[in-house]
Amino acid sequence: MEITVGVGNIVEHKSKAIVVNLFEGVTNPGGSTGSVDKSLNGAISLLIKDKEIKGKLNEITLVHTLGKIDSDRVVVVGLGKQPEFDTESIRKVSATVARYLQRIGISEFSSIVHGAGIGQIDEKDAAQAMVEGTLQGLYRFDKYKSDKDKKPSIKRLNIVELDKTKIQNIQQGVKTGTIISDAVNLCRDLVNEPANKMTPTRLAEVALEVAVQNGMDIRVLDKAEMKKLGMGAILGVAQGSDEEPKLIVINYNGDNSEGSQSIGFLGKGITFDTGGLDLKNAAGMRGMNGDMAGGAAVLAAVQAIARLKPSLNLMIVIPATENGIDGKAQRPGDVVKTMSGKTIEIDNTDAEGRLVLADALSYVQSQGVSRIVDVATLTGAISTSLGNVRMGVFGNDQNWIDAFISSSEKVGEKAWQFPMDEEYKKQYKSDIADIKNTGGRNGGSITGAQIIGEFAEDTSWVHIDIAGVSRSESLTGYTPKGATGVPVRTLVQMAMALSNDSN
Ligand code: BES
Ligand code: ZN
Ligand code: MN
Repeated sequence: MEITVGVGNIVEHKSKAIVVNLFEGVTNPGGSTGSVDKSLNGAISLLIKDKEIKGKLNEITLVHTLGKIDSDRVVVVGLGKQPEFDTESIRKVSATVARYLQRIGISEFSSIVHGAGIGQIDEKDAAQAMVEGTLQGLYRFDKYKSDKDKKPSIKRLNIVELDKTKIQNIQQGVKTGTIISDAVNLCRDLVNEPANKMTPTRLAEVALEVAVQNGMDIRVLDKAEMKKLGMGAILGVAQGSDEEPKLIVINYNGDNSEGSQSIGFLGKGITFDTGGLDLKNAAGMRGMNGDMAGGAAVLAAVQAIARLKPSLNLMIVIPATENGIDGKAQRPGDVVKTMSGKTIEIDNTDAEGRLVLADALSYVQSQGVSRIVDVATLTGAISTSLGNVRMGVFGNDQNWIDAFISSSEKVGEKAWQFPMDEEYKKQYKSDIADIKNTGGRNGGSITGAQIIGEFAEDTSWVHIDIAGVSRSESLTGYTPKGATGVPVRTLVQMAMALSNDSN
């Protein structure tokens, strides 16, 4: 889809449809909506008077222009109550408008920037949010559908702005919004892909494309190299599958100044989680192709970061393997030795995420990274506590936790911090090894996080449990059913906020 930005009056614009907006409770529309209303001899204000247009968030009204202006149709979209209006509202209404026009078969439309007028949102932020809502809201995963080319699709959005001094900012917002949306949709594509396609090997190939196309260094460690580094935890998980495990490492170097530090994003990359010998049941196994959503998120984030070029250094690491089940699969009660030297008793083969992340965490430390975020579909228990609304946040450094949470709030991805009391730790004591890989049912997301935390040593570390939010059961706002792409936007925002340029 192409997005253009032009100076002009939307009333004089020629398009299949032009989009204007209205706040709830406004009876006498001003700005572009007012101009269009006048050209239509008051059609919009009449609809408002008759209470057919209320301005409620996401309300859509289609008006045919019957030749009164050059465009065939006007869409009036409701922006909701003005005090509640923010960039999240812009993303939502933009998705609603785009999907509506797509459904009625419109291939090209023009719009003003929602919120940049009386909404009082900075035009750059408003344009970015509008593009994000549009591109993320129109996302479909239909590559395996035979009739995909017969479905209507939107080819172009023309953003029209009257004030030419705003154009440059709007263009900047469009660029940023496109980069971020492309990353979110890349993450969704990877997560939606079935496990017979998205193997560790394929994930490494995609990572290679992302790295090469965006000028980054990449290293993919194979089984032999992992063996040399003593990564017994990853290898233990991988040994029950015919798929070769891969440890994917990409470096983004945006800060060459002296004494510059590196941050690390790690993502769980289980391309399919059968549970291993502690086999999942049929219902529990569905969707486990998406158990690499954390890995997909950090890969997508580094693509956006490489394009936005913040001044910082970032290493992403994805331990990628299947958690399979065959004659060589690891057994409950087995003991593995991690790269750190610590030993882990396998209490449950289905608690594999923390095992692969333990070795990945030691690996980033060995590369000199001092602040780390790991992202993982780690526990079913996180859905019990937070439902499918918020991701869980855990960590050992409140400043670093706050950096994540404030970024998540800025972009509208919801997060909630959990406690990490010492008392929980006795739940995963082992009789024969340093620790076990599970801490039982109670507080399962917390002990899961703490087991990963055992390998954080003295680094600042945050763990994000996305098992409840990486997939959505239904369309909401600008997030279609299926993979959500959470928390790509938070990770990108975090990198932008940490950029030396922004200090
Ligand atoms: N990948 C799962 C967690 C999961 C569950 C993700 C549902 C998405 C949806 C993880 O590997 C797992 O199996 N965790 C176990 C841990 C337990 C054995 C301690 C769980 O949550 O049951
Ligand atoms: Zn898993
Ligand atoms: Mn599992």
